[in-house]
Amino acid sequence: MARNKIALVGAGNIGGTLALLAGLKELGDVVLFDIIDGVPQGKALDLVESSPVEGFDAKFVGSSKYSALKGADVVIVTAGVARKPGMSRDDLLGINTKVMTAVGEGIRKNCPKAFVICITNPLDAMVWVLQQASGLPASHVVGMAGVLDSARFRYFLAEEMSVSVEDVSAFVLGGHGDTMVPMVRYSTVAGIPLPDLIKLGWLTKERLDKIVQRTRDGGAEIVGLLKTGSAFYAPASSAISMAESYLKDKKRVLPCAAHLTGQYGIKGLYVGVPCVIGAKGVERIVELTLNKSEQAMLKKSVGAVSGLVDVCKGMMKQAA
Ligand code: APR
Repeated sequence: MARNKIALVGAGNIGGTLALLAGLKELGDVVLFDIIDGVPQGKALDLVESSPVEGFDAKFVGSSKYSALKGADVVIVTAGVARKPGMSRDDLLGINTKVMTAVGEGIRKNCPKAFVICITNPLDAMVWVLQQASGLPASHVVGMAGVLDSARFRYFLAEEMSVSVEDVSAFVLGGHGDTMVPMVRYSTVAGIPLPDLIKLGWLTKERLDKIVQRTRDGGAEIVGLLKTGSAFYAPASSAISMAESYLKDKKRVLPCAAHLTGQYGIKGLYVGVPCVIGAKGVERIVELTLNKSEQAMLKKSVGAVSGLVDVCKGMMKQAA
């Protein structure tokens, strides 16, 4: 049986980390693509030279031609510009909309059967543009944000309560931005919901509120420290878990930016919701009953996403 082919569009910080993880996990052969000729080729060669040491078998190829994407089973998109201190994810909208349009076309021509994971920010708008430009079914174009946001939430909670990160499960709803909605009620330690853990004295309401806010600001915290770019290790791990669930038909329940067709009262937008990811792509969207305050937070978050998508629509009309 031939190996799977994983194409990474964008060979920057996240792209390189994705490639390393794909190799270490033996998910398939890897193609790194970037507009800066030499970078994807150099990174591919460097990475494959680690394979004898790490003991993985995979081909690594670098290219600046879209034809390298031919027949890819999974495409992970990080092409574009990352933010610097003082910038919000939304500041990247103009330039990254153009990049997503070009990338979408490249995917349509070369690998229209692929499962596509978008990481480029502002995520919920960029994944929308990518789906439009590629013309792929919405079940096969998703955005990576929720796995990362919930990983941050899980880590902060585990650290606060001195328990293993493995036993903390948590998720967030809504857009990948300051308006994201960490779902406190549905977050647990070994199945015990956070409100019960407050009653048990493991956590205080005040500390939880601080952790929720730190989760919302998680990306900015890293940008502030790095000063030259944004987070890349945890975003890469998060996208790889989505790719793995698709390639191995694991049917994991993961929070992803998925195209909604009425769920949560939202139509025609990509918003972060829990999804089942398997061999058919997004196989199911989990629709939870939200309480009043969760509904209000989600509405605010969706409003922010919808405003960005309207700007993208205008830009795409102008370019057409
Ligand atoms: N086609 C292909 N690659 C492109 C294009 C394009 N049109 N435009 C830019 N790139 C490449 C750049 O040359 C660079 O190598 O995308 C890469 C982006 O890498 P980094 O700048 O290192 O950014 P990274 O940290 O990987 O983040 C990428 O993910 O989380 C988001 O906000 C982040 O939008 C950003 C993206």
